[in-house]
Amino acid sequence: MRAVVTGATSGIGEAIATRLAERATVVLVGRDNARLDAAARRIERAAPGADLVLEKADLALVKEVRALAERLPRADVVISNAAVITDLHDHTAEGRQTLLATNHLAPYLLLRLLAEAADRPARFVIVGADPVALAGAPVDLDDLEAHNLWLPDPDLLPFAAYGRTKNMNAMVGYELARRFPGITVNAAHPGIIGGTGLGRHAKGALRELGERLGRTAPGPEVGADTPVWLATSSEVDGRTGGFYVDRVLTPTAEHTTDRARCARLWRESAQLVGISGE
Ligand SMILES: NC(=O)c1ccc[n+]([C@@H]2O[C@H](COP(=O)([O-])OP(=O)(O)OC[C@H]3O[C@@H](n4cnc5c(N)ncnc54)[C@H](OP(=O)(O)O)[C@@H]3O)[C@@H](O)[C@H]2O)c1
Repeated sequence: MRAVVTGATSGIGEAIATRLAERATVVLVGRDNARLDAAARRIERAAPGADLVLEKADLALVKEVRALAERLPRADVVISNAAVITDLHDHTAEGRQTLLATNHLAPYLLLRLLAEAADRPARFVIVGADPVALAGAPVDLDDLEAHNLWLPDPDLLPFAAYGRTKNMNAMVGYELARRFPGITVNAAHPGIIGGTGLGRHAKGALRELGERLGRTAPGPEVGADTPVWLATSSEVDGRTGGFYVDRVLTPTAEHTTDRARCARLWRESAQLVGISGE
C-alpha cells in the first residue's frame, strides 16, 4: 500500500504517517527539507523499517500543488491534513491569502487533480474540524477570504476565518465524493488535540486558549485514530461522502451539505486556481 500524507512534519499528520508506516510506504509531504528529515527520523524510530518517501512542496503555492500532483506516483490512500492559522493579511508569493490557499485551495486542487488522474480505486481522507463548533461558521461564498468577518477581539479573527476554511474542507469532501464515485472520500474531525503546531502564530486570547488546551487535550496519536481508520479499515469499504468523529458518521451543518453551495464553492475555487470549473 502507498499512502500520501500532507502536513506530515508535525502534530496529527506526523502521527498519521507514523501509524500508516507500520503497513504502507508513506509519502511525507512537507514544505521544508530539514523538517521533513527530522520527521522522517522520528517516524523511523517509532516504526522501525518504515518505508518513507519525502516530498517537499509548499502547499500555499498553486504551482507547487500542481507540480506535486503531477509527480506523485499513484497512491492507495491520500490524507489531506496540512493547515495553518495565519493572519488574514498574510499573502503568498502568488498573491493569494495564505490561509485560504493552504487550508482550502491546496486540498481542493491536489485531491481534484489526483482524482482526475486516478486509474484505480483509492481512499481520500480530509482532516477537517469540529462540526458542532463549525455549524456557526458558514462559509460566505461571496467572501472566501473572510474580509467581511468582524469580531470585537481582532486577535480571534484568524481562528474564525480558519473555521470557515475547515467548513470548506467538508464541502469539498462531499463534492469530491459526488463527482468521483470510484474514490472513497471521507472527512474527519481529529478531536481537540494538544501538542501540535497549529496555534504557533496565535496572539492574545487565542494564544491563551491554545496553551490551556495544549495542557489538557490528548496528543496527536489520538487525533490520528479516525483518519487512519478511514484510510485503512475494511469497515469503511463502500462508505463514501461521510464526515466522521471518533469513527462515527456525524452530520455536519446544512450550509456544508447543500449541493448548490458545494457546487458553487467548487466552481469559484477552480477559478481561483485557474482550472476548469466543471
Ligand atoms: N490540533 C487540533 O486541536 C485540531 C482540531 C481540529 C482540526 N485540526 C486539524 O488537524 C490538522 C493538523 O493540525 P495540527 O493540529 O496537527 O497542526 P500542526 O502541528 O501545525 O500541523 C500542520 C502541518 O501542516 C503543515 N503545513 C502548514 N502549511 C503548509 C504549507 N504551506 N505547505 C506544506 N505543509 C504545510 C505543517 O508544516 P510545518 O511543520 O512546516 O509547519 C505541519 O506539518 C489540520 O488540518 C487542522 O485543521 C486540528
